[in-house]
Amino acid sequence: MKNTTQNPKQAAGERAAKLVKNNMIVGLGTGSTTAYAIKELGRRVADGLDILGVPTSYQSAFLATENGIPLTTLDEHPVLDIDIDGADQVANFIAIKGGGAAHTREKIVAESAKKFVVVIDDSKMADVLSHPVPLEVIPAARKLVEKNVAKLGGKTQVRMGVNKDGPVISDNGNFIMDADFGKIDDPVSLSKELSYCTGIVEHGIFTNVDMVYIGKKDGTVKIISLRNL
Ligand code: 5RP
Repeated sequence: MKNTTQNPKQAAGERAAKLVKNNMIVGLGTGSTTAYAIKELGRRVADGLDILGVPTSYQSAFLATENGIPLTTLDEHPVLDIDIDGADQVANFIAIKGGGAAHTREKIVAESAKKFVVVIDDSKMADVLSHPVPLEVIPAARKLVEKNVAKLGGKTQVRMGVNKDGPVISDNGNFIMDADFGKIDDPVSLSKELSYCTGIVEHGIFTNVDMVYIGKKDGTVKIISLRNL
């Protein structure tokens, strides 16, 4: 279906927002693509849609509130109906996330949802993942993580702030390290190895993607689904 916009991120975000129905508890992802979904949900809430949102970051909480979406928490609603979030790269229904340093909360929310929907523009689809993997790291573990990730074949870099001197500090008060592994032939194994590393709070490989909404430059959206949902 063709959207009226020529912006691929907007097309994907707004189209995915149509999956949300009355009385749903909705995970609200982080980033510029999800922002279009949140704004569209805000428009629908103004028209009477009754939902509660669970934000994945300060960014999505602020945006949801500005757009009139009532918020709740995972304590009150531990199971979500759907989560809509962006990604930095997707291949074979596995996503790399964390370009906005929010992947820890994003993963908690995604794994709490019955359906995890990723919204991207088509430049982010790949045959094999190769994007650097964001790691949220306890500051005191920076050198240990650098050493242990090197043993797995990755080269890490502490992410530096823009308009802030020194490192990016996540919403949880930790560093972000981007780990470049080149082509990642076995992302499931790498995901497990990174989860074993002391000092890594969470990594940006998401293996639970159910659907991908891929926006194209002509305003069309390709939808791919892992199974019938
Ligand atoms: C934030 C994320 C974002 O969803 C990802 O970086 C994509 O962002 P955008 O939609 O702005 O391209 O994982 O941590």
